[in-house]
Order: sequence, then structure tokens, then C-alpha cells
Amino acid sequence: MATFDSTAVRLKTGEEITVRCAEGNDAEALLEMTRSVIAEGRHHLTKPEEFNATAEEEKNWIHQVSQSPNRLILLAEIRGEIIGMLDFHGGEKKRLRHTGSLGMSVQKNWRNRGVGSVLLAILLKWASNHPELRKICLEVFADNEGAIGLYRKAGFRTEGRLVHHVRMEDGSYTDLIQMCRFV
Ligand SMILES: CC(C)(COP(=O)(O)OP(=O)(O)OC[C@H]1O[C@@H](n2cnc3c(N)ncnc32)[C@H](O)[C@@H]1OP(=O)(O)O)[C@@H](O)C(=O)NCCC(=O)NCCS
Repeated sequence: MATFDSTAVRLKTGEEITVRCAEGNDAEALLEMTRSVIAEGRHHLTKPEEFNATAEEEKNWIHQVSQSPNRLILLAEIRGEIIGMLDFHGGEKKRLRHTGSLGMSVQKNWRNRGVGSVLLAILLKWASNHPELRKICLEVFADNEGAIGLYRKAGFRTEGRLVHHVRMEDGSYTDLIQMCRFV
């Protein structure tokens, strides 16, 4: 089971947020936040109509992650409201168990205040204390400048570019950038 103690962090704007692992009873609120970010439509592979998880399924997913030693769902919370999440899963095959991938999102009205940086820093600290994890990776749309800026600042470097990997509804294509960093 992955362990991480709930921690309070002050943002550069002065607000204090709590970062903790997701629990079963976060399912509804987490679904709601994920739905609202996906509904923005621009930088996610999943389209709103493809995101149909029920609260029960979300709860089961959270439970499975909480039982795994190399998976983690971090939540950023303020006054009981979930404002950000980071989902990490480590490799399953023995030769990939030193690697893992993350995805993250912050509620629109809470962006650019440091929430994403805090979630990422906490994940990297947890990963660097993990007995197996050595390399953390992610994929990001090539035109997602804000996210790429955040990842670069956190020490991630581009390792690959999947050209025209994403086909948008208007027929245009977007490249997918693979970024990684060692811990
Ligand atoms: C990407 C995301 C998680 C960042 O969260 P956030 O809380 O806004 O991030 P932070 O405020 O901690 O960090 C912002 C950092 O990103 C970088 N950044 C932001 N906008 C930028 C831009 N337009 N160009 C370059 N860098 C930018 C800066 O380094 C900034 O740090 P600074 O404020 O110290 O200069 C958030 O924008 C989000 O949820 N976006 C929608 C979902 C998404 O795209 N997820 C990523 C999928 S891979």
C-alpha cells in the first residue's frame, strides 16, 4: 500500500491547501472535478462523452490505487473542496517497475497559484523515497504551454515526440510530447 501523510502547504498567494491521498468518499467530488476539466476539451485525450465513470467505479478505482504500493492519487483541497488532483501509476512488469506515469489537473479558477507545482513536488518527493521508483514520465499535448512550462520547471525533459498523434474534431492534428525526469 502506498503511504503518504496528509500535509498542509501555503501557496505563494497565501492560501493554505491540504494535500492528501484520495479516499473512497472523495469519489463524487473527484468525478465532478475531472468532468469539469475534461469539459474544457482542449488538452485531454478523453472527450466528455467518453468519460462515463460512475461514483461506484470511481470509488473502486480509488480503493484499488490505495492498496497498491506504486500507485497514488494525490488531492489538493481547500476548505473541504477538491481543487487539484495528481494520479500516478508505476510500471507493472518487473523491468518497468522503476518507472511510472502521471496525469494531473487543477480546477480552472485555481490555476497559476502554485497548486500544480505543489502536487508535482510532493509526488517527486514521495517517488524519490520509494524503494523502486527511479524515473517519472508523462505525456502532454505539444500546444499545452502552461503544463509544459510547469513540467520543465519541475525538472522534466522532453524524451520523445509522437507526431500528429492526436486528431482533433476539426481534423487538425496535435503532437504528443513525452517528458521524463529521474528521481
Ligand atoms: C497544467 C496544470 C495542472 C498546472 O497547474 P497550475 O496549478 O496552474 O500550475 P502552477 O500554478 O503550479 O504552475 C504554473 C507554472 O507553469 C508554468 N506556466 C504557466 N503558464 C505558462 C505558460 N503560458 N507558458 C509557460 N509556462 C507557463 C510556469 O512555470 C508557472 O510557474 P510560475 O508561476 O512560478 O512561473 C493546470 O493548468 C491544468 O489543470 N490544466 C488543465 C489540465 C491539463 O492540461 N493537465 C495537464 C495534462 S498533461
